[in-house]
Amino acid sequence: MTEHDGPARYGHLDCNSPIAAWRFERHVEECAAASPGTIVDIGCGWGELLQRITERVPGARAYGIDSDVALLERGRAGAARRGLDSRLEFVEYQGRDWSEPADLVISIGAAHAFGTAAEALRELYGLVRPGGRLLFGDGVWNRVPDEAELAAMWPGTTLQDWLSLPDLVDEAVAIGLRPLRVEAVEQSEWDDFESQFLADKEVWLLANSGHPKAAEVREQADAHRDWWLRGHRGLMGFAYLTLGRPVG
Ligand SMILES: C[S@@+](CC[C@H](N)C(=O)[O-])C[C@H]1O[C@@H](n2cnc3c(N)ncnc32)[C@H](O)[C@@H]1O
Repeated sequence: MTEHDGPARYGHLDCNSPIAAWRFERHVEECAAASPGTIVDIGCGWGELLQRITERVPGARAYGIDSDVALLERGRAGAARRGLDSRLEFVEYQGRDWSEPADLVISIGAAHAFGTAAEALRELYGLVRPGGRLLFGDGVWNRVPDEAELAAMWPGTTLQDWLSLPDLVDEAVAIGLRPLRVEAVEQSEWDDFESQFLADKEVWLLANSGHPKAAEVREQADAHRDWWLRGHRGLMGFAYLTLGRPVG
């Protein structure tokens, strides 16, 4: 999309989940240190994390799976820029149909591709080779919202959409995974994420206030800001679980 057509999509985000640069870099380091021979990222978007990990593990073969063709194209361009295109493939696929196991499985912010978080963990467990790892990221409730709080969030949000952090970890353990690291983002990481998500629209609006689409874009930006600031802010966290699958 050109500036003339409307705002860009995810133009101000390095990746499409709330995460500080230092935490992102620690994921890269820790995932690379396990020296995975094969890596798959289900719901990878443009796969910035996948690209960075693949770059650090010279022999690894990697696959980024997503259903959004435009995001996959951005991923392919990034992989080509980094000289990774011979061993990192971006594949258009429905996440739950992917069946090729890997030493490192990543799925961040894409649990809905499988259903609930518990269903996602079960499916992803089956993709992790024994002795391998799963890096799983998903929203969590910081506390249980009441009906009015739920109604202020994105339309259609229900209590069942997320678990609490302890319940999410319990689900992973019950499936047979062991937690190597359990972490949840700070509020500032959510705020940065939402601000950068909205920046495409806000920066475009500043330069295009008389554009025929300006009213619609302003309405979308205002609604999204409300879902964030009057809705999920403080109520929702975002967890990253680094999980190991036992060898035997
Ligand atoms: C919140 S984004 C996270 C992207 C990426 N993991 C990241 O952290 O930058 C969720 C991604 O899941 C993808 N997705 C949603 N449903 C999917 C499905 N059924 N199969 C594959 N990908 C899916 C979306 O296209 C989107 O790129």
